[in-house]
Amino acid sequence: MAIDVRSLTDTWQIGSVEIPSRIVLAPMAGVSVQAFRRQGRRFGAGLVCSEMVSACGLGHQNERTMNYLRISGDEKPLAVQIFGSDPALMADAARMCVEAGADLIDINMGCPVRKVTKTGAGATLISDGAERGARVVAAVAEAVDVPVTVKMRRGELNESRDFTIAGPRFVEAGAQALTLHPRSAKQMYTGHADHALTAELVELVSVPVIASGDITSRERAHAVLETTGCAAIMIGRGAQGNPWLLASMAGDIDVQPSNDEVVAELVRFIRETVRELGDHRSTHFLRKFHGWYLKRGTFQRTLRQELSTLETTAAVEEALFRAAPGARALVAAMEAEIAALGSGADDTELDLPISLYGGG
Ligand SMILES: Cc1cc2nc3c(=O)[nH]c(=O)nc-3n(C[C@H](O)[C@H](O)[C@H](O)COP(=O)(O)O)c2cc1C
Repeated sequence: MAIDVRSLTDTWQIGSVEIPSRIVLAPMAGVSVQAFRRQGRRFGAGLVCSEMVSACGLGHQNERTMNYLRISGDEKPLAVQIFGSDPALMADAARMCVEAGADLIDINMGCPVRKVTKTGAGATLISDGAERGARVVAAVAEAVDVPVTVKMRRGELNESRDFTIAGPRFVEAGAQALTLHPRSAKQMYTGHADHALTAELVELVSVPVIASGDITSRERAHAVLETTGCAAIMIGRGAQGNPWLLASMAGDIDVQPSNDEVVAELVRFIRETVRELGDHRSTHFLRKFHGWYLKRGTFQRTLRQELSTLETTAAVEEALFRAAPGARALVAAMEAEIAALGSGADDTELDLPISLYGGG
C-alpha cells in the first residue's frame, strides 16, 4: 500500500484554488489586518484569512468599521471569513466579498463570544443537528463560484461531539474544506485542542480538513499533520509577533531572529498598518504587537514599557531603532525592495466594514 507522506511545503487544493503550502494563517479578530496577512504569506503561509466580517454589517454598509478591507496581490490566495445566521444575508455578503477579490469564502461557526452566539451565529450553528448551519452553507455555496469552507469548534458544550454530525452535513451542503478547532465553545481557549477529534473528522469527510489549535512549534506541526491525516495546519496565536515560526515550518529549520531583524520586521509591520488604519488608530492598535514582537530577541524589559507611553508611531520607531541600530539598514533594504515591486496598484479597496468583535 502506498504511504501518503505529506510535507508542510506541499502544494494542495481547496476546490480549484491552489495553495502553495500546508501552513495556514488563522483568522483572528483584532489581529488579522492586511499587514499580518501579507507578512504571513512572505514567511511561508500558503493561505491567509481575514478576520470575521459581519454579514449584517455588510448588508447595512453603515456599521462602525475598523477600516476598509483591502486585498492585494501579495496576500492571495485569501479567504474572507463571514459570520451571521441568516442564509440570504450570508449569501449576499459572500457575493460582495467575492466581487472584492476573495479567493475563498469561509463561514465562521466557531465564535464562542456571546454577542455573536446570541444572534444564532458563530458556534451555535453547529448545534441542533447543524440544521441552520447547513442551510447557511447551501445558500452561500449557491451564491458564489469560489470554494466555500467552514471553520468550527467540536461543539458548543464540553465533550460535545456535534462536529461529527455537522462536518458531513456541511460537506453535503457544499463546503469544500473544513477547519476544526477541537475545543468546545464553552472552553473558549482553556484546556487543550484535542486533535484526535481532527483525525476523526478526516475519516468522516471527503474534503480537506485543516487542523487549528495549539500548534506552536515545528515539531507539533509535523506531529499533527502526520497523526491526523489533515490537509493543512493552521497557526493562530503562535504567529502573533512571530512570523519566524512560519518560516521555521516552511523551511524545516530553526529560525531565531536577531534583535535587528525583530525590530526591522516590527517597523515594517508598523508602517504597513499605518498605511492601512492611519496613524492615530494604529498607535493604539499596535501596542499589543509590540509586546508580542519583543518576546523575540534579547531586549531590555523596559523597552516595552517605554513603547506603551509613546503617542505616535514615529516615536515608537525611534525608540526601536535606538534599541537595535542595525535595523535601520534592514528597513531601508526592505523599503527599496517594496518600491521595486511597484506601487501596489493591484490593491483592491473594499468598501467592507470589519466587525470589531470576533473569535472562534
Ligand atoms: C484574538 C483571537 C481572535 C480570533 N478571531 C477569530 C475569528 O475572527 N474567526 C475565527 O474563525 N477564529 C478566530 N480565532 C480562533 C483562531 O482562528 C484559532 O482557531 C484559535 O486561536 C486556535 O488556534 P491557536 O491555538 O493556533 O491560536 C481567534 C483567536 C484569537 C486568539
